[in-house]
Amino acid sequence: MTIEIKNMLTDLNQAEVLVTGATSQIGQCLLPHLQAAGITMTAISRQPQSNTAYIVWQQSNLQISPLSISQSSLLFHVAPLPLLPPLLTHLPNNAPLKKIIAFSSTSCFTKANSPDPKERRIATQLTEAETALITICQARDIAWTLFRPTLIYGCGIDKNVTFIARFIRRFGFFPLVGQGKGLRQPVHADDLAIACVQACLSPKAINKAYNLSGGQTLTYYDMVKAIFHHLGKKPRIMSIPLPLFKFTTRCLSGLPTYAHLSAAMIARMNQDLCFDYTMAYHDFGYQPRTFSDTDMGF
Ligand SMILES: NC(=O)c1ccc[n+]([C@@H]2O[C@H](COP(=O)([O-])OP(=O)(O)OC[C@H]3O[C@@H](n4cnc5c(N)ncnc54)[C@H](OP(=O)(O)O)[C@@H]3O)[C@@H](O)[C@H]2O)c1
Repeated sequence: MTIEIKNMLTDLNQAEVLVTGATSQIGQCLLPHLQAAGITMTAISRQPQSNTAYIVWQQSNLQISPLSISQSSLLFHVAPLPLLPPLLTHLPNNAPLKKIIAFSSTSCFTKANSPDPKERRIATQLTEAETALITICQARDIAWTLFRPTLIYGCGIDKNVTFIARFIRRFGFFPLVGQGKGLRQPVHADDLAIACVQACLSPKAINKAYNLSGGQTLTYYDMVKAIFHHLGKKPRIMSIPLPLFKFTTRCLSGLPTYAHLSAAMIARMNQDLCFDYTMAYHDFGYQPRTFSDTDMGF
């Protein structure tokens, strides 16, 4: 795959490559692909990082510091999408930013009608950021591609698959509400990194948005079972009544490890969250890996 990407990226050597959100799961996968292709890039993080031969780290908080773009540039925005429109608005009119590959989320659909007002706000912010990004890019003649992934895993830092694995390691079992029959399509961060590279070199992907799900559709129950297998453990999955689950979640929500849990999230264990990636396959050859037999990153 590296050789294919190397060939695909030759064209980019003329452009400056910027990666915002470079320490994210996708960023951690994207940087090595770009580096292997001989691409020099500026990677942005709020934390200090050490430069390497191909990666110049810039310490910057995108909420308060503008982007500096002085030569023909390609931007991979892997940080939260709502940060991007204000950054673009503050760029000088003649800034030579040519192309943006940015990440939104399928949460803009799945959380739009959530009973949890916090989740509805996230969905609204994403939808508004998508609209603003497209409007600004049209006005400034910047080519854009938007990706909406589903549940991302693969680097051992996500709050879904890795959280489940840590819970299993610690307690030896995993609790589910009902049968956990909601369908999931976990997507590996490396497949999204490869999609970035493929899309930025495909003319068909210009000015389009894609839902990017993983290569296997399985129930929440089967996803948990696959994680047990990956850990070399016999599955011990317990069905717990929703009221007890909600009570436990409320009690644990003060602890940082469990702060992201919410009643709405638990209720979604039995809802299907599925998206079709056929358009991405046709436009730039997106072919995500299956979940059960892959390296889950832990
Ligand atoms: N996680 C999922 O399952 C999921 C699902 C669908 C879509 N997405 C989207 O996919 C993208 C990557 O998701 P992720 O979960 O891997 O990462 P994330 O937790 O959303 O964070 C992405 C990165 O953004 C950087 N960042 C955040 N605020 C910043 C700021 N003010 N200034 C500069 N950098 C900032 C952080 O880097 P530093 O801490 O180094 O500054 C972090 O590494 C995001 O756009 C996310 O919304 C994620």
